Amino acid sequence: MRIFVFLALISTADAARKRGPPQVSEPVVVVGGGLAGLSAALEVLDSGSKVVLIESQANTGGNSAKASSGINACATAAQKKLKIRDSFDLFYSDTLNAGDRQNDVELVDVLVHSSTDAIKFLEESGVDLGDVNLCGGHSTPRTHWVPSPKEGKPIPVGFEIMKKLRARLDAIQIDRPEDVTILNGTSMTGLVSWNEYMTGVNVLLPSGKSQEVAGKAVILATGGFASDKSDDSLLIEFAPETIKFPTTNGAFAKGDGVKMARAMGAAVVGMENVQIHPTAFVDPADPKANTKFLAAEALRGKGAIMINMDGKRFANELGRRDYLSARITKGCKPIDEFQGGSGGHSAAIMLMNDEAADSFGRPAFNFYHLVKKFFKKYDNLAAFAKAANIDEKTIETTINEYNELVGSDDKNVHDDFSKTVFPVNFVADQPIYAAIVTPAIHYTMGGLKIDSQGRVFNDLRKEPFKGLFAAGEVAGGVHGSNRLAGNSLLECVVFGRIAGKNAARTKYDKTEL
Ligand SMILES: Cc1cc2nc3c(=O)[nH]c(=O)nc-3n(C[C@H](O)[C@H](O)[C@H](O)COP(=O)(O)OP(=O)(O)OC[C@H]3O[C@@H](n4cnc5c(N)ncnc54)[C@H](O)[C@@H]3O)c2cc1C
Ligand SMILES: *[C@@H]1O[C@H](CO)[C@@H](O)[C@H](O)[C@H]1NC(C)=O
Repeated sequence: MRIFVFLALISTADAARKRGPPQVSEPVVVVGGGLAGLSAALEVLDSGSKVVLIESQANTGGNSAKASSGINACATAAQKKLKIRDSFDLFYSDTLNAGDRQNDVELVDVLVHSSTDAIKFLEESGVDLGDVNLCGGHSTPRTHWVPSPKEGKPIPVGFEIMKKLRARLDAIQIDRPEDVTILNGTSMTGLVSWNEYMTGVNVLLPSGKSQEVAGKAVILATGGFASDKSDDSLLIEFAPETIKFPTTNGAFAKGDGVKMARAMGAAVVGMENVQIHPTAFVDPADPKANTKFLAAEALRGKGAIMINMDGKRFANELGRRDYLSARITKGCKPIDEFQGGSGGHSAAIMLMNDEAADSFGRPAFNFYHLVKKFFKKYDNLAAFAKAANIDEKTIETTINEYNELVGSDDKNVHDDFSKTVFPVNFVADQPIYAAIVTPAIHYTMGGLKIDSQGRVFNDLRKEPFKGLFAAGEVAGGVHGSNRLAGNSLLECVVFGRIAGKNAARTKYDKTEL
């Protein structure tokens, strides 16, 4: 840490010789092309400033494009239309309850009160968010997503949002070509400052050359560190017990923004809070892959059950994420032979039948089964037991015991794991679908400490940096110890836009210098 700060000071001195104070006409440099980055870039442009967007991958999208459950908001037109009762207070308290009250309350206040407008912003960009769902941890339905078309494939919400925002950015670029620069395949390697001001970043271009990209302010929107297994891994530093898990995140989620701002003296918060998702699919074609596809919560909601290799259920499939992850980690062994095995990770078998698949939605289920081939179909329970080398009698007993509870109206009826909801019956001589699932790092709650203006806090000077903003998963504090489903996309839009507005406004007063 000390060494980094020392280096940062040297580069500050170097840069000071090269340039004068940042000019109003200079662009805002936005690093990261996920939802936070695109929201910020659009707001910068809307404020009349220029923007340079830097994205390490070939295309924009990030983890934002993978989001599948939706985005939270209250007091929206969609909630009104569906006659859903909600309030800012209720949304606020749900968020704090999920985060064990470790959240930064000022940021949560901004988050919930800006949520109505965040949905409007996305709808003005052409995203239909007319459907509203109830997700775990919420007192009322407020997770907005794209209504499923009557026919054909469902539209994944994160992908749709990222497609429409990129189209909006591209349209502005056609109108104002000198105002929009998108550098894809280009990685930030460090921050550049001039005296007290952050005035740009160093990048590695696709050609392999290094270059400085200068601007009047920098917005970090590089996402989280769920994939960071590097030598200087933030996971190892702050949450070493999580390093054994694979992740649902793309390989680009390696905490660059956190590390590079920290090297300049930025404060971090909540870094030890890492969310593990209990069910990521093990791909039979690549069981060892570090990045795994998320097995949506709704699969279990619609009736999927989970067993270990002894043919027994071991948990309430609808329990909290941390509970279910721990049950798999502690109660299940790695799978060797069956369906390609689990790549050495503790894993469970997820079982579905046709009734559960229909209830989940056939097009979406077929994507997992026929396109991705995570689920394999067996003609009946006996065929599955044989393939998995599980005792047929044991699995039959498991199914029969479960079936006895299906259809009960009595809310007091529960199984050995306190499960009270039993969506579907499993029939031994009907087809059954099996997939291997394993816990995976899903989200990193911690990150750079920001204030309600989106400014990154400078731990050395005990005040916000001048000209350095952060938004999205790279920032910490909003979610406390645990993120409420659907709050991450919202955070990206809300704080991305705030950072964009404030960065565009950056004006250096001569008397300050
Ligand atoms: C499978 C999955 C499903 C999810 N579902 C939901 C959901 O339904 N609702 C919800 O609210 N949240 C959900 N989340 C969480 C949410 O999607 C993410 O937390 C959020 O999208 C993060 O957005 P971001 O803009 O901060 O980062 P990202 O979208 O990850 O974008 C960061 C970008 O920065 C780029 N980058 C990184 N380092 C550099 C560098 N050095 N130089 C240049 N570029 C760099 C990356 O390539 C990436 O494109 C889900 C996450 C996953 C993985
Ligand atoms: C940048 O994007 C363009 C257009 O989508 C693409 O053709 C090109 O390959 C990308 N460049 C890199 C280095 O990823």
